[in-house]
Amino acid sequence: AASTELRDLLLSRIRDVADYPQPGVMFKDITPLLADPVAFNALVDALAGLCARHAATQVVGLEARGFILAAPAAARARLGFVPVRKAGKLPGPTLAQGYALEYGTAEIEVHADAFGPGDRVIVIDDVLATGGTAEAALDLIGRTGATVVGVAMLMELTALGGRERLAPVLKGVPLDAL
Ligand code: PRP
Repeated sequence: AASTELRDLLLSRIRDVADYPQPGVMFKDITPLLADPVAFNALVDALAGLCARHAATQVVGLEARGFILAAPAAARARLGFVPVRKAGKLPGPTLAQGYALEYGTAEIEVHADAFGPGDRVIVIDDVLATGGTAEAALDLIGRTGATVVGVAMLMELTALGGRERLAPVLKGVPLDAL
């Protein structure tokens, strides 16, 4: 999706941390990327470009690292930002969506009045891993009546099959991983 130069820049600023948060897991740490003004700006530009390409009207970020990417992308694209939060964090009336984790379950929420008729939503997060989080977010946003017009991830861990898992709920909506 991204140019080779952008891809190489972003990859060079993502740090692999072995055995975090659990033994056997290779954690993708984006803090070096966030701390680098050139790389961070290039990432925000690319995400804002996707917002424009898909003619989005609202940008959703998925808690927590998705917020760090989605909010500046929304502002740069001159769009509003909507948080999808872990359960219990949003003050107003919400819609909630549960989903399965490797061990146990989780729940995410969005404000029930976050979207109006005709809103075109792009969903932004840092990592697509198993796809469980994004799948729940797409289901949740779909229930508000808004239309998801794109999903944009900084990175996709292709071995975990997230893209395949999302295909039935995406129904052709573009999934871009930079
Ligand atoms: C990470 C990541 C994605 C999700 C991807 O978030 O930021 O949101 O996991 O995994 P999946 O595709 O298997 O669902 P995490 O739950 O660690 O939350 P955080 O951003 O609040 O740390």
